[in-house]
Amino acid sequence: MSHAHQACLNPECAATFDVGQVLTSCPKCDALLDVRYDWDRIAVPSRLAEFTQRWSDRGNPLNFSGVWRFRELLPFAPDDRIVTIGEGQTILQRNDQLAAQVKLNSGCLYLQYEGLNPSGSFKDNGMTTASSHAHMVGARMTACASTGNTSASLAIFAGVSGLFRCVVFVGSGRIAYGKLSQALDYGARTLQIRGDFDDALARVREICRKYPIYLCNSINPFRLEGQKTIMLRVLEGLGWEIPDWIIVPGGNLGNCSAFGKAFEELHTLGLIDRIPRLAIINAEGANTLDELVNRIGLKWNSGRLDSDAVGNYYGAMDRNDGRACTLASAIEINRPVNLDKALRAIHVCDGVVRSVPDQEIVDARAMIAACGFGCEPASGSTIAGLRRLREEGVVSASDRVACVLTGHQLKDPDLTVAYHSNDRTLREEKLIPAGIHETPYANSPIVVDNDEAAILRALELLPDPSVPGGAAESAKN
Ligand code: F0G
Repeated sequence: MSHAHQACLNPECAATFDVGQVLTSCPKCDALLDVRYDWDRIAVPSRLAEFTQRWSDRGNPLNFSGVWRFRELLPFAPDDRIVTIGEGQTILQRNDQLAAQVKLNSGCLYLQYEGLNPSGSFKDNGMTTASSHAHMVGARMTACASTGNTSASLAIFAGVSGLFRCVVFVGSGRIAYGKLSQALDYGARTLQIRGDFDDALARVREICRKYPIYLCNSINPFRLEGQKTIMLRVLEGLGWEIPDWIIVPGGNLGNCSAFGKAFEELHTLGLIDRIPRLAIINAEGANTLDELVNRIGLKWNSGRLDSDAVGNYYGAMDRNDGRACTLASAIEINRPVNLDKALRAIHVCDGVVRSVPDQEIVDARAMIAACGFGCEPASGSTIAGLRRLREEGVVSASDRVACVLTGHQLKDPDLTVAYHSNDRTLREEKLIPAGIHETPYANSPIVVDNDEAAILRALELLPDPSVPGGAAESAKN
């Protein structure tokens, strides 16, 4: 017997549904749904440290998974329905080099590197739970709309498990090649909709409502259950201590919502005694949350949101044909479906929202990579946002901060190469139209003749005859 159910987020409705039902919004009032648990009937370990012991049991796939080894905290699926591909083997690493660059004290900056997931992004944390629920309810076909990573993740789970056919809807021309190549390679039926992500999501929701296709976007509440574990691994990486800040990019706002839910539940269960603050970072070209929270003053208000304010905002956006536009294509989203849950997370975590321009995103991405952590542009927004928050004094130098690097560097190699390259055509195609004119962290390739002397000159081991005094000094060293 399951001790889990689905519950409507709207306090006026508060309808509940069985976990066996396939729903992506409340059938009564259309609000978002949560997965909730009867905690007093579930044997949750009394200390978080007890979960660590499972690390030693690598032979059991449920203990090997960085998601399911926390299964008592997301107990909706019977063990024999769990679909796992070894997701969540990710690390939290302290990085003092980067800390110094954002003016944090040594020992204060940590990077949660979700690029290490099987499909190279944090999405696998949520796709294992969505796929498990799909398996529980006997789904044969899964679907999503995506800016790229969700589709890669959906496709890998369908491919490895062999349980589902899958279809992905992507916006035309807005998806990074690394991600598109994954969906194609893993065998997903890939529909490039003439439109952007917001169009693709609206369409796939409509189709999944009408036909027996299981929707795996983050509007699916089971997705977010898995993404809670990213925070558990952050705490684990800190020896179960609580950081002061979690910084995360905001796109469709599923991840930040999952983090808020995780902390609220852990606090309710008495497993943590304080909740870290949350900073959600939008790209300036896709800044709906920033606008609604900071300019319009939208608040969670116990679930009684000012829906007129939201309606007016989207109405104006429609009248101006406002389209999201950022080089951080993963978060190029103007209508975040998890808006309400994100507001709840901001409330629970005393959160803040900022948006950062593409120039700062691509520079921050390159800074992170130069410290050995390859991530995609959206993830770069965390360090760009942190820099802002340090300048504003919202984050102080002694605060302990964990930034979630959501996707791997190889997801978007074109942009990376354009950033580092001194090839004018590449820069004109990729960077200039987005307003990127400077690349201060570029590490440009050096073209050199296939000749020892030329190579030694390039390595500054021989003086360069064209430079008076040359590089003779470095050659001596
Ligand atoms: N970072 C990366 C690398 C992403 O792929 C996404 C979302 C986000 C951050 C934002 O997370 O939506 O939970 O706020 N990518 C989605 C996709 C939308 O389709 O792959 P969010």
